[in-house]
Amino acid sequence: MNNLGIIGTGNMGGMLAEVMMNQQSIPQHQMYIYNRTNERSTELQSRFPSINITQDIRELLSKTETVFLCVRPTQYESLVKELRKHLTLEHVVATITSPVSLEDLETLPARRIVRTVPTVVNRTGKAPLLLTFGNHWADKEKALFEQWLRTFSEPISVTDDTLRVSSDIVSCGPAFISCLLERFMLAAVQETNITSENAEILTEKMMIAYGHLLEAGHFNLRELMEKVNVPGGITGKGLKVIEKFSEGMFEELIQETHHKYAEDKKEMATLFQGKTDM
Ligand SMILES: NC(=O)c1ccc[n+]([C@@H]2O[C@H](COP(=O)([O-])OP(=O)(O)OC[C@H]3O[C@@H](n4cnc5c(N)ncnc54)[C@H](OP(=O)(O)O)[C@@H]3O)[C@@H](O)[C@H]2O)c1
Repeated sequence: MNNLGIIGTGNMGGMLAEVMMNQQSIPQHQMYIYNRTNERSTELQSRFPSINITQDIRELLSKTETVFLCVRPTQYESLVKELRKHLTLEHVVATITSPVSLEDLETLPARRIVRTVPTVVNRTGKAPLLLTFGNHWADKEKALFEQWLRTFSEPISVTDDTLRVSSDIVSCGPAFISCLLERFMLAAVQETNITSENAEILTEKMMIAYGHLLEAGHFNLRELMEKVNVPGGITGKGLKVIEKFSEGMFEELIQETHHKYAEDKKEMATLFQGKTDM
């Protein structure tokens, strides 16, 4: 991998920079970062002293070949203006944002555009990264890039029409599951004598062990459920309650995320429509 740049070192950009360096996917001295305000860049540099903080996007692009765009959708406008001025055909541009269309990004001067949507669990170095290549990659270039992504993640190819729902599962999933578990813990405290501390400890330990069990490949999700749910047992009573109250819940969730996605996509497309002015 040649020099690599990260624009926006917030939650995701900072996490990606960190996991890439921790997994030795890129040496610190080849990592260039630029954040709108200094605080998050200097914090990252305090932990990875050999990384390079650039003064602006122009400098970052002049020093790097692959650049990850890690800003929020609403923050693309000023960024796109700078990218239009300073990108070259040699750059590889990776966006981590789902509502930005690759076709729109392909109006930038770079040839190779790719989408790599992460999740907070990428911090572990082995979580999924949703991958969609733009139109101008040779097969060999794709294979090399994917091989490099594998050094810090598990890239999974997704098509445009399943990107949002894949992102709901992989990227929003940790928040959705945490929310459900939090409700479970609150109910446990409300209905019994367990303390919230103990409910939290038990829940976290259960989740960690559950992940290990899945990782070991002994069971899939359905088999795990069947294993716990012995005929005539207590789990079955609980599962019935979940079935009753969750009916329609995830359907509505998916409709809501897709509705917001459609709105965000529209906004992003409008932003790129004025492309000749940018
Ligand atoms: N959060 C998730 O779990 C998740 C999962 C998958 C994908 N994503 C996508 O990741 C993207 C970033 O999300 P996030 O949660 O990391 O947001 P975030 O924490 O707000 O990070 C955005 C960062 O970009 C910086 N920034 C904004 N405009 C900039 C510019 N023009 N030049 C340089 N830096 C700039 C911000 O700087 P300041 O410090 O000055 O604010 C901030 O540090 C979003 O598009 C989101 O859709 C997020």
